[in-house]
Amino acid sequence: MRGGQLLAASLVPTPYLTRGMIMTNVDTKPSNYSTFPSWPENNHEIPTWIYSNEQLFDREMEVFFGGNTWNYVGLECEVPEPNSFKRSWIGTTQVVVTRDAGNQIHVVENRCTHRGTPVCWKQRGDASSLVCPYHQWTFGLDGKLLGLPFIRGAFGKGGMPKDFDKSSHGLRAAKVVVRGGGIWASFGESPPPLEDYFGPEILSLYDRFLNGRPLKLLGYSRQILPNNWKLYHENLRDLYHAAILHTFLVTYGLYRADVEHLNDTPENGRHEYGKSIFSKKTRDQVNEAVHEMTLRREGQILNEMSMVEPEIEFDDGLTSNFNVFPSVHIQQHGNIFSMRHIIPKDVRSMELAWTQFGYADDSSELEMARLKQANLVGPAGYISAEDGEVLALIQTNVERHPDVLQPLEMGGRDINLPSDNMLNEDLLRSFYRFYRREMGL
Ligand code: FES
Ligand SMILES: [Fe+2]
Repeated sequence: MRGGQLLAASLVPTPYLTRGMIMTNVDTKPSNYSTFPSWPENNHEIPTWIYSNEQLFDREMEVFFGGNTWNYVGLECEVPEPNSFKRSWIGTTQVVVTRDAGNQIHVVENRCTHRGTPVCWKQRGDASSLVCPYHQWTFGLDGKLLGLPFIRGAFGKGGMPKDFDKSSHGLRAAKVVVRGGGIWASFGESPPPLEDYFGPEILSLYDRFLNGRPLKLLGYSRQILPNNWKLYHENLRDLYHAAILHTFLVTYGLYRADVEHLNDTPENGRHEYGKSIFSKKTRDQVNEAVHEMTLRREGQILNEMSMVEPEIEFDDGLTSNFNVFPSVHIQQHGNIFSMRHIIPKDVRSMELAWTQFGYADDSSELEMARLKQANLVGPAGYISAEDGEVLALIQTNVERHPDVLQPLEMGGRDINLPSDNMLNEDLLRSFYRFYRREMGL
């Protein structure tokens, strides 16, 4: 067993501006945290302390969700009308996504600037303003403080000082960009243009199916995963497991080692994508790629084969899965369109909030196919349930043993990307190289 000695870490408090109303936005440069346990200077050993260190988690929230990043918060079709809203999250910060009477989209923190009460208590709905229940301070859908009871007191007594300035007590508002029906927000002071943040490869995968064609919300599912949020990001970049753990994918040829595919971690390891070609032919192939997959159920068929035989919607025949770090995994898998919103809760738990959607002009058959296939990967499906269970049990073990170095040596110790094979851990090595650089570790 190797690893560093656990040193006491002290937090530098996040700076606040006057009146406790607007949190200073932090740059992606980490603040002056004290020393963390050690981590060898290579890309192929991951220390287990990173999954349970509370100070590290605080810094991650600051660097990745409070910094100059763009975070997925919802779809335009979830706030379809003027005066509609939905709650969402940027990391551990709850926000309200609103569409005002003039059709402008806003994202504001769900924290009253008076005493901190949430101003929005419903998941979705319609309202022309946000009224805090505690003392009824009332905010516009853009976050501006519109008014408060007894501002001038009553019977000549009480009330706010004459120089009380409503304009400096609005809800903290994020910067917002809407693209192709997706809503993106940033609490950073100077985030780059969204297109630059995505980079050309992610942008082309995004625009390929989120291209302005109106979207339709099909439904939600949610799961609480009792594991550190990085384990989920690892899981998305872990190709090696996909064709082994998920026997369903292998059995039906949906994703396996002999599928034509390409993976990379563009923008210096920040994001990740995988694109592959689905082929019914692959399902029946028996070759080197499957003979080590002992759990493959050869010849097994489903009563409802449409679950695994998507209608080809795009001329390129591609299935694409891509990750816009830190907040979302976007999936166009067969006919499934979904946003997997990654919401860290604390160092040892996260929520995965799935939004299933289609195009507003889909045929009813295609809409049904999207919903049916969504069962493949959702919380109760054949894939996410398997990942969720594995990750929960990993968390238990890595917490018990925080001083172990784990190997990432499949495919070598270097980073050779893009990759057209699944038998490597290059995407993980690339992720942690990015992560360490951003975190200053
Ligand atoms: S806490 Fe919101 S009005 Fe007082
Ligand atoms: Fe998986």
